[in-house]
Amino acid sequence: MRLSQYFMPTRKETPAEAQVVSHRLMLRAGMIHQASAGIYNWLPLGLRVMKKIEEIVRQEQVLAGAQEILMPTIQSADLWRESGRYDEYGAEMLRIKDRHQRDMLYGPTNEEQITDIFRHSIKSYRDLPKNLFQIQWKFRDEIRPRFGVMRGREFLMKDNYSFDIDEVAGRHSYNAMFVAYLRTFARLGLKAIPMAADAGPIGGDLSHEFIVLAETGESEVHCHKDFLDFDGLAEPADYAANLQPIVDHWTSLYAATDDKHDPDACPLNEDELLSGRGIEVGHIFFFGTKYSESMGAYVQDPEGNQVPVQMGSYGIGVSRLVGAVIEASHDQAGIIWPEAVAPFKLGILNLRVEDQATTAAAEDFYKKARAAGLEVLFDDRPERAGAKFAEMDLIGLPWQVAIGPRGIKAGTIEIKNRATGQREEVSAEAALDLLTA
Ligand SMILES: Nc1ncnc2c1ncn2[C@@H]1O[C@H](COP(=O)(O)OP(=O)(O)O)[C@@H](O)[C@H]1O
Ligand SMILES: [Mg+2]
Repeated sequence: MRLSQYFMPTRKETPAEAQVVSHRLMLRAGMIHQASAGIYNWLPLGLRVMKKIEEIVRQEQVLAGAQEILMPTIQSADLWRESGRYDEYGAEMLRIKDRHQRDMLYGPTNEEQITDIFRHSIKSYRDLPKNLFQIQWKFRDEIRPRFGVMRGREFLMKDNYSFDIDEVAGRHSYNAMFVAYLRTFARLGLKAIPMAADAGPIGGDLSHEFIVLAETGESEVHCHKDFLDFDGLAEPADYAANLQPIVDHWTSLYAATDDKHDPDACPLNEDELLSGRGIEVGHIFFFGTKYSESMGAYVQDPEGNQVPVQMGSYGIGVSRLVGAVIEASHDQAGIIWPEAVAPFKLGILNLRVEDQATTAAAEDFYKKARAAGLEVLFDDRPERAGAKFAEMDLIGLPWQVAIGPRGIKAGTIEIKNRATGQREEVSAEAALDLLTA
């Protein structure tokens, strides 16, 4: 993509409305544009990142045996009356009337909708287990939308729902999502720590939040510092195996959000305890028969009895993750994208557009990089070199290749790694080899 043609409305000044670094950088990098309080337009650069995150989330869901569906954003209030949550949910639910004065709502979550699909489709234990996921917009009329996409009113969530014949099988589905979440967040370059959590309005008694440590997190968290050495990607994706040992390993160390943390009862001594702030990027619940009983989702068990199906639900804040990744990975100059979610792998800077030899070399490198299958953003604009470097640092692509008259004479270009800041003068061929390795 040529930057001269790309829609990337960057800003030099620090936006006054943004309190946290990820919000500031997303606005400055031209990734998002606010539509109204807590509601955002996603511009090309931001959307590319969100799509990458979405794809990693999707791959790990599929690997864990979940099947993708898509439910509507607008739901009927009647379903929520059945579960009793229509009144319970309160002001966070955006309530709508259609032209026939029927009560509708913009879904804040989908337990009722999915239970309705299930009860019409599945009648026997032979069709279990099932795990269905979607990646769909949610609306919650948050009292204080803030921090940009991290606490929006409209936000993109991966939500899924497991259905099992009994508690033992349900627990396995829960564990499978636990492992899938460890792997997902690790692939996104994040260290996410599972913490025992209150189930809240979703209901149920088994629940974990996945928390990324970051100074600007909304939750205060306390955990064993050895969590920093845990690696989610080290966990095998063998979902047929007994997963309890993995879950036990990850829950063997102390970790608690502030509302569950009691300093007097905390088993850790001072040099083991890590206290800080965190961002909730995922939340999993096993709630058994809460919705299946109230909404009549019964299946026949092997003995011929009608039993309510055992359910769990699992959420990942896909749009929030775009902000969370930035909170976890940036410096004074801007964003530092982990390769897995970077909008482009590489930026090419033509440092002197008016110099023919430089432009020829830059165009040639752009052509070869694209032919090699690299995702590349080519700054071909007639701007000052300094401004180009600053903008590349701001948008945080993992690699920068700078091509200018001085290097052309020596037969070299400069390649820089954004994360380490390391620069090297190499031949164009060597740079391409490095980038395609
Ligand atoms: N207002 C929001 N803006 C962006 N992401 C959100 C918001 N609310 C929830 N999420 C994301 O969706 C995931 C699942 O939501 P859930 O646990 O049901 O919400 P909450 O913890 O806010 O009650 C959360 O872990 C979080 O990553
Ligand atoms: Mg939650």
